Amino acid sequence: MSFYANRVFPWILDKTEPKELSEHRTLALQGVSGDVLEIGLGTGGNLPYYPKSIQRLTAVEPSSGMHARAQKRVVETGRDVEWHQTKGEQLPFGDGRFDTVVTTLLLCSVDDVDKVLQETFRVLKPGGHYHFLEHVLSKEPETCKWQHRLNGLHKVVACGCELIKDIEHSIRDSEFDVTEFHEIPLFAGAKAGLDQKIYPYIRGIARKPV
Ligand SMILES: C[S@@+](CC[C@H](N)C(=O)[O-])C[C@H]1O[C@@H](n2cnc3c(N)ncnc32)[C@H](O)[C@@H]1O
Repeated sequence: MSFYANRVFPWILDKTEPKELSEHRTLALQGVSGDVLEIGLGTGGNLPYYPKSIQRLTAVEPSSGMHARAQKRVVETGRDVEWHQTKGEQLPFGDGRFDTVVTTLLLCSVDDVDKVLQETFRVLKPGGHYHFLEHVLSKEPETCKWQHRLNGLHKVVACGCELIKDIEHSIRDSEFDVTEFHEIPLFAGAKAGLDQKIYPYIRGIARKPV
């Protein structure tokens, strides 16, 4: 992995996180319980927001640079995390192992969204919940146009993160029952600029049928 991907990009992610995300991380992790898996832990941005009551947190993250930064948050939050350096497309866990799976700002970066969703479904217990917060392809034509214009450059600068994946469609098309769904308008507080044009979000919960 390059110096940029391993050291610089994790630093950029931490430094450029919009403050509005804090509220949406809190809401996305509300009700998370039991034996929890987070796919794509990154720099551990969610660690301060997990309810204290969860039993156990396991994380999958392929990048050791992300993991190094996440370790600081592990120390700050005092939260134990069992880390697996691997990808969400092939999870090293048995069927029906977890009560909850979480992904935030992940599916934009994975090689195969449908495969990650299939693996998420597989490792959840029947009746278990998948909590997601993802940035997505816009339904608004002007924003969509900007997303397509900037996608190639964005993918390089943001280490594989794409702006034009129809993640809502992939989640709705999966075997999950979507039980909660919110479209998050472009952050009202964000300053006018690229972030206004290219990062609409969705947040929700999907359930694995019993
Ligand atoms: C934009 S970061 C988001 C990190 C974190 N989830 C958050 O909300 O701050 C995307 C993360 O997904 C990881 N990633 C990329 N491809 C992945 C894959 N196929 N499976 C699991 N994680 C992946 C990256 O290394 C990176 O840490």
